[in-house]
Amino acid sequence: MAQVPPVRIVQAANFVRNKLHNLTRRMAPAPVQVLEIAGGFINSQVVYASTKLGIPDALSSGPKSAADIATAVNGNPDAVHRLLRAAASIGLFALDSHGRFGLTAMSRTLCSDADDSMRPVVLMLGDPSYWSPWGELTYAIQTGKPSADKVFGKPMWEYLGDNEEFETVFNNAMTALTKLDWPTVAAVYDFTPFDTIVDIGGGQGQLLKLILEAAPNASGILFEQKSVIEQAADFLGECGTLPRCTLECGSFFDTVPLGADLYVMRRVIHDWDDDDAVDILSTIRRSIPDHGTLVVLESVVPEDNSPHFAKTLDLDMLIFAGGRERTEAQFRTLVKRAGFEVSRVIPTISTLSVIEVKPRK
Ligand SMILES: C[S@@+](CC[C@H](N)C(=O)[O-])C[C@H]1O[C@@H](n2cnc3c(N)ncnc32)[C@H](O)[C@@H]1O
Repeated sequence: MAQVPPVRIVQAANFVRNKLHNLTRRMAPAPVQVLEIAGGFINSQVVYASTKLGIPDALSSGPKSAADIATAVNGNPDAVHRLLRAAASIGLFALDSHGRFGLTAMSRTLCSDADDSMRPVVLMLGDPSYWSPWGELTYAIQTGKPSADKVFGKPMWEYLGDNEEFETVFNNAMTALTKLDWPTVAAVYDFTPFDTIVDIGGGQGQLLKLILEAAPNASGILFEQKSVIEQAADFLGECGTLPRCTLECGSFFDTVPLGADLYVMRRVIHDWDDDDAVDILSTIRRSIPDHGTLVVLESVVPEDNSPHFAKTLDLDMLIFAGGRERTEAQFRTLVKRAGFEVSRVIPTISTLSVIEVKPRK
């Protein structure tokens, strides 16, 4: 089993970190605090441009001058120097006494070959296709509708299916994030009792690959949309997982594979409003045996005013797909409408919780 610290210890550390963060923020006058929050997108683009240009990779052999970096990444020397100076001022790069820029712990995670590389995630977050619906947040708040529909002229999933380049960026980010939080899930949930495990909307197959490694006697089925299944075949083929895994394409509004003893969904239900989510869950209810288990991996919004990633991710769901993050009570109501009941909600040290769901007797 993966070694991760106990949930209570991490919760206590996060509590202290949030208090210190608020304290640091409040040390500046209120207008400056607002300026720092409102200008957050600038730092976001600094990280994105540095990553997209491949600066962390160019520094993996050691510190370099801005001029040498500009040559390596084919950039304008003056502009590259200004980017590096800004990035170094927020800790992304180190600046030595010879005026050379080098990697820090943060930028090391942006190298392509880093163990838990955040490069795919940054490439998604900074992509114009990702942030342009954020530029229309006001529209989403006024109408309650996804601004992505307005910006793209079609629903998000259709846009992804029609844009192979951004679909690949999106799927690579999902795969990287899944790899990042997998140890936190594996530490609290045992996948070995199951024989057949279906991952519904499983992206490129990263989660199923990791589950099958943790449950060596199980076989798996990845269920996804056609355009994603093609990417999954490449990913799972390269990882050598395919002998124990089959791929099925379709829409979870119509059908899912029949008769498995475990169905898993990571960050899928939050993409949908309540009625659509109930439709997806109902499709699974029609296919799952009465003794089967459904594991929903989602963030659970705290009922109180405590800080939680789910509270901002909730807006991400609104603008992209018209979905939402939910409280535990909302999850319980939702699954009940589809003929299930929540048997356990297990917190992890990441932003995910394991919501174990069983068919209602
Ligand atoms: C937010 S992503 C999560 C992917 C993956 N579970 C993960 O956690 O990395 C949601 C996934 O749902 C899939 N999806 C969307 N609509 C679908 C549909 N109608 N049928 C099957 N899959 C669908 C998308 O292709 C996408 O991969």
